[in-house]
Amino acid sequence: MDANIFFFFSASIIFIAYSHENDHFLECNGTFNCGTIQGIGYPFWGSGRPRYCGHRGFELICQENQSPAIDISSQRFRVLNISRIRTGMMTIAPVDIWEDPCPQLLYNISLDHILFDFAATTQNLTLFYDCPLEDDIPSQCRFMCNTSNGDGYAYYLDESSSRIHHSELEDCGNGIIVPVNQRELDELWSGNDTIVDAWNKGFDVIYGKDMIPCMTCRNSGGVCGSNDTSLDFLCFCPDKPYSKSCLVPGMFASSDLLTSSSIHPFREVV
Ligand SMILES: *[C@@H]1O[C@H](CO)[C@@H](O)[C@H](O)[C@H]1NC(C)=O
Ligand SMILES: *[C@@H]1O[C@H](CO)[C@@H](O)[C@H](O)[C@H]1NC(C)=O
Ligand SMILES: *[C@@H]1O[C@H](CO)[C@@H](O)[C@H](O)[C@H]1NC(C)=O
Ligand SMILES: *[C@@H]1O[C@H](CO)[C@@H](O)[C@H](O)[C@H]1NC(C)=O
Ligand SMILES: *[C@@H]1O[C@H](CO)[C@@H](O)[C@H](O)[C@H]1NC(C)=O
Ligand SMILES: *[C@@H]1O[C@H](CO)[C@@H](O)[C@H](O)[C@H]1NC(C)=O
Ligand SMILES: *[C@@H]1O[C@H](CO)[C@@H](O)[C@H](O)[C@H]1NC(C)=O
Repeated sequence: MDANIFFFFSASIIFIAYSHENDHFLECNGTFNCGTIQGIGYPFWGSGRPRYCGHRGFELICQENQSPAIDISSQRFRVLNISRIRTGMMTIAPVDIWEDPCPQLLYNISLDHILFDFAATTQNLTLFYDCPLEDDIPSQCRFMCNTSNGDGYAYYLDESSSRIHHSELEDCGNGIIVPVNQRELDELWSGNDTIVDAWNKGFDVIYGKDMIPCMTCRNSGGVCGSNDTSLDFLCFCPDKPYSKSCLVPGMFASSDLLTSSSIHPFREVV
C-alpha cells in the first residue's frame, strides 16, 4: 500500500513537471500570422505570441491587412517580406515619413547592428538638400524642393558619385543616406522609378541572431525560443528546455554537451 501511494505520488509529480515544462514546446511550435504576412516563426513574436517564442528585438506590431511593423533603434519600419527561401532575411521600409521626396524631417536610417545588418543587395542612396545649382552634377540627379531659405535644389546620387561630387555638395544644407535595393537603384537611374518608389519598396536586412542554433534545435526535434528572464536562446523540447538542442533518443550524452550537430548546421537530414 505504501509503495503504491508512493508510486502514484511520484508519477503525479513527474506528470505535473512534464506538462508544465512542455508548455512552451507546444505554445511556440508552428507559425503565426501578422497583418499581410503569414507563417512567421522564430525569432519573431508579437500579437499574442509570447516573447519567449522569439527573441527580444523581433517584436512585430500587427494590424489587419497591413504590413507588420517593427521598431529598430527607435525607428519604425514596415516589414514588407520575410524570406522563407533565404532564412534570416527580410525586406523593410521606413514608415510614414517619406511619402514626399522632400521630407520635412530628415533623418538617417540606423540599424541595431547587434541584431541586424544590411544585405549585400542593399545600396546607399545619398540625398542632398538645400543645395545651389551645380552644373557639374548630371541634371537627371537633380530635383526641386521648396524651402523657406536658400536655393531649392536637391540631388540624389549613389555613394560613389557622391564621393566624386564631394566638393560641390559641400555647399548643400543637409543630407541623408537612405538604404535601397540595388534593383530599385538601377530603375531609378534608368528613369523607371521615382525616389519615393525606390525607398518605399524597402531594403533587405539580414538577421543572423541565433539562426544557426535554431537550425540545430529544429533538427533535433525542438522548437526555438528564448529565456524570458535572461533572454538567452532556448531549445524547447518535449521533456524540457535545453540551451542548444533536444536529447535525441539513442544518444548517450546530453546534447548540451554534445555539439557535433552544430558543425554542419546547413546539411539537411535525409
Ligand atoms: C509542431 O508543428 C509541426 C508542423 O506544424 C507538426 O507536424 C508537429 O506535430 C507539431 N508538434 C507538436 C508537439 O505540436
Ligand atoms: C517575398 O520574397 C520572395 C522571395 O524571397 C518572393 O517570391 C515574394 O514574391 C516576395 N513577396 C513580396 C510580397 O514581395
Ligand atoms: C546623415 O549621415 C551623413 C553621413 O554620416 C551626415 O553627413 C548627415 O549629416 C546625416 N544627416 C542627418 C539628417 O543626420
Ligand atoms: C551605407 O551607409 C551605412 C551608414 O553610413 C553603412 O554602414 C553601410 O555599410 C553603407 N552600405 C553600403 C552598401 O555601402
Ligand atoms: C514650389 O513653390 C512654387 C512657387 O512658390 C510653386 O509654384 C510650386 O508648386 C511649389 N512646389 C512644390 C512641390 O511645393
Ligand atoms: C525600364 O522600363 C522599360 C519599359 O518598360 C524596360 O524596357 C526597361 O527594361 C526598364 N529598365 C529597367 C532598368 O528596369
Ligand atoms: C532562465 O534564466 C534564468 C536567469 O538567468 C535562470 O535562472 C533559469 O534557469 C533559465 N531557465 C532556463 C529554462 O534555462
